[in-house]
Order: sequence, then C-alpha cells, then structure tokens
Amino acid sequence: MSDHIFISNKIKTFKKKIKVSSDKSISIRSILLASQAVGTSKIKNLLESEDVINTLKTIKKLGVNFKKIRNTYYIEGLGLNNFDIKKKITINAGNSGTLARLILGLLAKIKFRVKLIGDKSLSRRDFSRVIKPLRLFGVNITSRNNCLPIEIHGSNFLRPITYNENIGSAQVKSCIILAALHTPGTTILNSKKSRNHTELMLKFLNYPIDVQNRKKIDKILIKGQTQFKSFDYDVPGDISSASFFIVLTLLSNKSQIIIENVNVNRSRLGIITILNKMGANIKLKNKKIYNGEEIADVVVKSKKDLKSINCPSNLNSSAIDEFLIIFLVAAKAKGISRFQNLEEMNKKESKRLNLGIKFLKSIGVKIERFNNDINIYGNPNLILSKNFEMKNFLKDHRIFFLSCITALTLGGNWKINDKKSANTSFPNFLKILRKIGARIH
Ligand code: S3P
Repeated sequence: MSDHIFISNKIKTFKKKIKVSSDKSISIRSILLASQAVGTSKIKNLLESEDVINTLKTIKKLGVNFKKIRNTYYIEGLGLNNFDIKKKITINAGNSGTLARLILGLLAKIKFRVKLIGDKSLSRRDFSRVIKPLRLFGVNITSRNNCLPIEIHGSNFLRPITYNENIGSAQVKSCIILAALHTPGTTILNSKKSRNHTELMLKFLNYPIDVQNRKKIDKILIKGQTQFKSFDYDVPGDISSASFFIVLTLLSNKSQIIIENVNVNRSRLGIITILNKMGANIKLKNKKIYNGEEIADVVVKSKKDLKSINCPSNLNSSAIDEFLIIFLVAAKAKGISRFQNLEEMNKKESKRLNLGIKFLKSIGVKIERFNNDINIYGNPNLILSKNFEMKNFLKDHRIFFLSCITALTLGGNWKINDKKSANTSFPNFLKILRKIGARIH
C-alpha cells in the first residue's frame, strides 16, 4: 500500500471548532502509573497511537492485565514493584523514547532480566542519560554504546540517590522519579525545568513527593516504597498535536479555530508564548484545573504581520517538540529570528535540527547556523509554486506534520512520504485536516 500523500492546494478560509488527539505524555504516564497502583484504574480518552499501544503491550508483557470498554481502559494494577514475570523477556518500545526511558525506571527492581529494544530511530538515540542515574541507584544495566538494545536486571539493594538533572529532559527526570518509587529512603532530584506531568500525577495520587520550584531548577524529593491506590483519569488534548493546527490557522487567510480541551500546563506552553511574542493573538478560554493539570480551549485567528523573535532559550524545554513548526512561522515573519542552544532537537526521533534546516532551505528560506544556534531570515511574501518531495526523514511524525502544514499554507505541489508516521502520535491528523477543508490525495 502506498505510504504517501499529495497536496497541491492551499487551504481555503475556515472557521472551525475541533478536538485534537489526547496527550501522549499523559497517556503513557497514566498507563505506567496505573500498572503500579493497587486496584483497577479507569483511563478515559487514552491516545490510541503507536507509542501508547506499545506502552499497553509492555505492561501486558510484565503481567498487568487490561481491557477496553467503550472509550475507557481498565488497567488492573498489581501494586508497586509487582510486575509478574517468570523468565527473561524482551520489550519493544517501538519509536517511543518516553516509553523506553520511563519503563527502565519502573524496572529498577525487576526479578528477571529484561531486554529493551526499539525501532531504527529509537535504536540510534542516547540512553546514557538514564543509564548513569540508574546505575547510581544500584540497578544492573548493560548496553552497547549507550544505545538499544539494553539489558536490565533489577536489584534488591537499591539505594536512594541525590542527582542533578542538567539536560532539562522530562524523560530523564521521570525515569529517576519512577526508579525512586522502588527505593527505600528519599531520593533528591535537582532538575532543570521540563514538563512536570509525572510529578503532578503522583501528587494527584497523594504520593509523598515534594516539589520545590526554584528559579532555574525544581528540587524534587521522592519518598520511596509507598503504595498508592488505583485512580480514574480522563486524558485531555495534546498541545503538541494542537500546535500544527495553531500554525495552520495563523498562516492561513482570514481563518479561525477553536481547539477544545487542550492540556495547557505551563511547562508545555512555549509555543504559545513564542508565537504571541511574534505578534499572534492566541487566547486560552474556559480554563480549568483537572487533577493538577491546567486545561483550556485554544483560540487562534490568522495573522498577517508577524514579526521575528530573539527566542529566550529558557523557553526551549517547554517548546522542544514544537520548534519545527515554530521555524515555519519564523520563515513567514518580518525580520531575522534567532533560536539558541537547540542541541536537544538533534536527539529526538530524527535529527530534527539538521532536518529542520534542510527543510527550510529546500523551500527557499535563508538560514544561518552557528553550532546549535540558528538565524532564520523571514519573508512575509514567501509563497511556493514548485514541486516538492520530502524524503528520508526517518519516518519522523513531526516532520510529516510540518510538511503538510507548509504545503497547505505556502502552496506548491507536494509529495509527502511516510504518511503512516502520523500513527506515532496523532492518528487522526489527516482526517481533521480534511474536516476543516484541506484537499489531500
Ligand atoms: C516527553 C519529553 C520530551 C519530548 C517527548 C515527550 C515526555 O523529551 O520531546 O516527545 O513525555 O516526557 P525530553 O524530556 O527527553 O526532552
């Protein structure tokens, strides 16, 4: 079956209300924490994307049962450190860095050896960032060059650690927090700011975790070995998926969109802060707090005279998955935009900084690079008319989405490969695009 699409028309003016798919970070965390809870958790509106399905398959392999009735998953938690395996097993995390890093934390005390593997993209990503702290806990873990496959064998002699997480990676932070749950005593984690869903979910579960917000870091204290009860959770929409529709609307002609029920946790809101600094007027309406997370409807209108930005790098972590689509806005804005310290982008599903630059150059945008800093020369009159084909992007879902939004807002005749990559995070992406009027073949 063909795995590409064609787009040859810009999207026409639209005025719509949509819902995007559920939050991937929260979906994965809710399954993993439900696997450790005592009793049956009910999770509604779980994202049914490949990364999340791989998380469900993983807990199943570890002896945790679940079933789905209508739009609710019932996960029968076994309690902390009660994964039920009788022999060595292999877990396949597919494309998901979040699943791979977080599950290693939960396996800190596992009784039999577990081998962790992943797809081609995940197998070239760095795991030293989690191997190092796990070894300090006392976990037995081996790998080839700090990449997958990894073998982990839990320890009965775990000790709490004090650790400085300097990358600003929520995956590393969460891996450490999950390993700390299995450890006697209190682990102290000084963590550069990053998305805080794990901490918020544990607080909502009344787990003894204390988070002290400092200016640049969060000091997190986790008291290990406390059982917690099963829970109910209704997963809100994903701001990372919403970001493609935010930019689609912003760069289209006289259009408007309301994206309902999106998780607008501050640690994820970089895209909105950055775009509003560039002259957009994105509003959050009907704000409410749900289990510690902030939820709102995101309201966006098209904007013609966007301006460049000198993007403060303290926003990097809160926009880490959105930079590709932010670069597209910078390409249409007046003036030179500057983004700095983007090295983490090259550690994602593909080398997104390198590919993002290549992508922008291929559509005629002038761009300068100094190590991990870039300058994008914006051009408000940028329109495309030639033929374009995006190839060899390691099936990175976010590059697929970026290509679609570029075609629909700037024009040109596009052949876009690896349509199936959308299933990683946002399976109904094309369906929603069509619903608001996109012509896709
Ligand atoms: C995620 C954290 C981010 C992000 C990824 C999801 C998470 O990675 O890029 O898509 O759910 O914790 P890092 O924390 O490693 O930057």
